[in-house]
Amino acid sequence: MMSTIVAALLFAFIGGVLAQRPNIVFIVADDLGWNDVGFRNRDMLTPNMDKMARDGVILDRNYVQPLCSPSRSAFMSAVFPFKSGLQHQVIGAKQSVCLPLNYTILPQELKKLGYATHMVGKWHLGFCEWGCTPTYRGFDTFFGYYNALEDYYLHNISGFLDFRNNKEAEWDYQGTYSAWVFTEKIVDVINTHDKSQPLFLYLPFQNVHAPTEVPKIYEDRFPHVVNKGRRVFSGMVNALDEAIGNVTDALKERRLYDNTLFLLTADNGGQIFNYGNNWPLRGGKHSLWEGGTRVTAFMSGAGLQKTGYTYDGMIHAVDWLPTLVSAAGGTPVTDRDGINQWDSIRNGLPSKRTEFIYNLDYLVIPTEGQAGIRMGNYKLLLGYPGQQDGWHRPMNNTEDDIYEKIIYDLDPDKVQLFDVIADPTERHDLSSQLPDVVAKLKFRLLEYRKQMVPPNYPDADPQSNPRKYGNAWTPGWCKL
Ligand SMILES: *[C@@H]1O[C@H](CO)[C@@H](O)[C@H](O)[C@H]1NC(C)=O
Ligand SMILES: *[C@@H]1O[C@H](CO)[C@@H](O)[C@H](O)[C@H]1NC(C)=O
Ligand SMILES: *[C@@H]1O[C@H](CO)[C@@H](O)[C@H](O)[C@H]1NC(C)=O
Ligand SMILES: *[C@@H]1O[C@H](CO)[C@@H](O)[C@H](O)[C@H]1NC(C)=O
Repeated sequence: MMSTIVAALLFAFIGGVLAQRPNIVFIVADDLGWNDVGFRNRDMLTPNMDKMARDGVILDRNYVQPLCSPSRSAFMSAVFPFKSGLQHQVIGAKQSVCLPLNYTILPQELKKLGYATHMVGKWHLGFCEWGCTPTYRGFDTFFGYYNALEDYYLHNISGFLDFRNNKEAEWDYQGTYSAWVFTEKIVDVINTHDKSQPLFLYLPFQNVHAPTEVPKIYEDRFPHVVNKGRRVFSGMVNALDEAIGNVTDALKERRLYDNTLFLLTADNGGQIFNYGNNWPLRGGKHSLWEGGTRVTAFMSGAGLQKTGYTYDGMIHAVDWLPTLVSAAGGTPVTDRDGINQWDSIRNGLPSKRTEFIYNLDYLVIPTEGQAGIRMGNYKLLLGYPGQQDGWHRPMNNTEDDIYEKIIYDLDPDKVQLFDVIADPTERHDLSSQLPDVVAKLKFRLLEYRKQMVPPNYPDADPQSNPRKYGNAWTPGWCKL
């Protein structure tokens, strides 16, 4: 009798604990600029994102790496790319490289907590060996692509298919816009989800990365934007927003929504060449300027205690793994660079982070290497901050050619210091005024540099040739 009661209580208790684990939806908006969302720019049409951001927490000082693979590696592993060899450029389709296999990554950590884990969208963390790919690294299912820059309708890159349903090459969606395919697949996952388990969805959409492509119905929603490229781009952002709306609707229909925590972040700043916009921040994608690294992000939904505000604490891409594991009720790993910011964000308390490395990438060509550190209010940049400098307003009503406005400063010996709290748009280099601060930050940066591993950036491997695998980019040509 007694044992039955104890068992019943225990069951109820465990049931209660399990019920609290929120579903987690982690959305990555590829190349979405600071000024490309409706809650910052009234010319954009993002009602779903605006509502989530305004009802949740806008993350105002959310930092990422200046490029795709490095940021995604940080999201998944909580390790700074300069320690995993991924600090230089992105992983090329023909390179025998992937996010080092010795890290347990976010979906693996959530699986340990009982989550069903699904990924729909862009991986870009290496695929040369099957062990590198999503379903071998903690995802129950994967629908999406391995590389970047592919066509939104044909799902090919460099002339070969890069579209996959779990392990199988997927040829069935030739001609269908990726945001439509992905949304259909995500809704399928939601509709077939076994509700006895909490759900983790990792949704790194293709929108709004180049090429600039969108079905006309989305473009037509921006008749006031005269500039063709910016008009199509605005449509791409709107398609992303619609996709997010459809995903939330599906969650609502299955009564999963109220217990779901959403995180949306861009992976880097807007690509100015491709009509993205980071105004008033300086620079864009590829650069260590704030426009390349301080990006649009918000959290919304289950577990947040304080909502409807803008959080100004410092957050870095490496923080998401411990933060989400904590939100899921787990105990985050502490042997990584990421800091658990869950209590800070959900209660509006000060950030636990006071510094981070923007990047440490000294390659053979000094003008390609980038180095920058943030400590407190100060940011030090050594050498070339990267392509895409300057301050650019959205090209909504002109046919201007933006290319001529982008300045490159290739001086590898240059030292620059900014107070990014007082001067968030980086207009006043303080390096000559504050030599002691420069010395302090430089010393700290050089300390970090001792932990740097050389960039893993090998030459193309001819074994990668998709012709060997039925004209699709396919794993199985390396052993890491
Ligand atoms: C994992 O691999 C990376 C890259 O090879 C290496 O720098 C790092 O020290 C390794 N980490 C652990 C925890 O083994
Ligand atoms: C995709 O395939 C089409 C048809 O073969 C080709 O014209 C196009 O250039 C390819 N695009 C990419 C990005 O590979
Ligand atoms: C969202 O759902 C509507 C209604 O079913 C559909 O017309 C639209 O294409 C969907 N949008 C996306 C991006 O999938
Ligand atoms: C376009 O951008 C300018 C700033 O360059 C802004 O003032 C204006 O409101 C925007 N919208 C339209 C429709 O022109």
